[in-house]
Amino acid sequence: MSTILLELAGRVATITINRPEKLNALNAETKAELRRVVENLDEDPAVGCVIVTGAGEKAFVAGTDIGELTGLDRVSGAQFARGGQEIFSRIEAMRKPVIAAVNGYALGGGCELAMACHVRFVSDRARFGQPEVSLGIIPGYGGTQRLTRLIGRGRATEMITTGRQIDADEALRIGLADRVFPAAELLLRTREIADTVAGKPGRAIALALRAIAAADTENGMEREAEIFGECCTTLDFREGITAFLEKRKPAFRHE
Ligand code: COA
Repeated sequence: MSTILLELAGRVATITINRPEKLNALNAETKAELRRVVENLDEDPAVGCVIVTGAGEKAFVAGTDIGELTGLDRVSGAQFARGGQEIFSRIEAMRKPVIAAVNGYALGGGCELAMACHVRFVSDRARFGQPEVSLGIIPGYGGTQRLTRLIGRGRATEMITTGRQIDADEALRIGLADRVFPAAELLLRTREIADTVAGKPGRAIALALRAIAAADTENGMEREAEIFGECCTTLDFREGITAFLEKRKPAFRHE
């Protein structure tokens, strides 16, 4: 892989988008590599939590690579958007938590990538924005949908129609960021939390993600009950309960 770095420490995998000279803008190669890496990590039982971040000090991801937008027409434009949507939806559907560690600019496709992750931890230097209208387009990798769900229709409309960038504190206040850390601590603190998550029984974590995703549906409560029942069939459930009652540390198998 040339535009993505992958590092495994314990049960935590870190994906780094690595085109710092272009502020980690997503070109076709980066998107293809990202997709492959995400699919592999999802299947890998040795991985319990994934971090996505950007190389360098300046940017998480400054958007899709604008150079690749030239020449798009109605059909190829829609295909281009669907392609990006698919990759980001693949991230959102992962069975292990994906934490965006937003270390700088998260603009356009970068903001959309962060929103496709399950959680967003951000540096105090992070800046979010959906500047696409300034290029005569709209967010096309899920941004109009995920931003609206995350921060509400009015705020999403304001961000998308003005293209205004917001800083980390505002992102935290409106629910686009979940935690803010000093820039120098972002990765360290994110890894600590990711380690905690990765130490929990993997099946329970995957099922929790599935139940949380059902919050957007009408029968979320029923899904929660069914999924709770599924948890009760696992070895790690038995181990968790037994270890508690025997006053010892559980030895999870992450089945
Ligand atoms: N696509 C392609 N290249 C990009 C890019 C993008 N989305 N964002 C940044 N780059 C490139 C720049 O062209 C520049 O390349 P160069 O050195 O070969 O000229 C390099 O990354 C550094 O960016 P630069 O603009 O010089 O940095 P800056 O600090 O002056 O500005 C930004 C930073 C993020 C404000 C500015 O780069 C920007 O507005 N980027 C585009 C953001 C955007 O519209 N994203 C949505 C795309 S749909």
